[in-house]
Amino acid sequence: MPKKSKKTRPVIIAGNWKMYKTIEEAAAFVKTLVPLIEGSKAKVYLSAPFTAIYPTAKLVEELKAPVVIGAQNMNDAREGAFTGEVAASMLKNAGARFVILGHSERRQIFGEDDTFINKKVRRALSEGLEPILCVGETLEERENGKAYEVLQKQIEGSLAEVSAEAMSSMILAYEPVWAIGTGKVAKEKDAEDAHHFLRELVQNRWGKEAAQGIKILYGGSVKPDNAANLLVEADVDGLLVGGASLAPESFSRIVNAFSG
Ligand code: PGA
Repeated sequence: MPKKSKKTRPVIIAGNWKMYKTIEEAAAFVKTLVPLIEGSKAKVYLSAPFTAIYPTAKLVEELKAPVVIGAQNMNDAREGAFTGEVAASMLKNAGARFVILGHSERRQIFGEDDTFINKKVRRALSEGLEPILCVGETLEERENGKAYEVLQKQIEGSLAEVSAEAMSSMILAYEPVWAIGTGKVAKEKDAEDAHHFLRELVQNRWGKEAAQGIKILYGGSVKPDNAANLLVEADVDGLLVGGASLAPESFSRIVNAFSG
């Protein structure tokens, strides 16, 4: 068993369902999950596809389940003629409490840049949605010794003009692109080093309180058998889980990997 590290911040285990799960599948997942995570010490977040947010949030409320429902993306505008887009206020109204922003799939496949992501972060904060801002380097950037430079650029760009007060309640997710969906999880030491670097960056720019309050999750090939070792690291405040969040059995084992 890995040694326990005393956590000073709440630990969050967040599932990212991506473009999976109908309304019925999401409901079946929640009903199976709830008894499996009874007594869990971690906060459990689930980011559902847009269509499943409202019914899943309602179900969670009815069951009084210890689960927070969120979204995976949003538009930066308050409202307007933007065919196919969804506003932060609509997500909030549907029952979402948080939103994943700047995921590498959005950056790489849909061409989102830090300026756009920054507008979304600020919109989410102003509408009272908790952003989970994702940052992370590609394999090429890591191999060229550029990982931290890339992280710094993403943080500075995506979090420009965010106040120190807002920063202390923000969630960051360090998701090395080479670890997402590949089965290649980061070594615990490399994850801790990157998290520590991010926290120092926050401290230098937004101050000590913000650095101590901000929660930094690790994401990228998290599985039931590597979760506990990642959670031992001092600057790892939780996990963002893709593939292994799709089945309640594997996701509950990750949630229960945190023993408090
Ligand atoms: P993965 O995805 O756990 O399937 O690697 C993580 C993510 O994309 O957030």
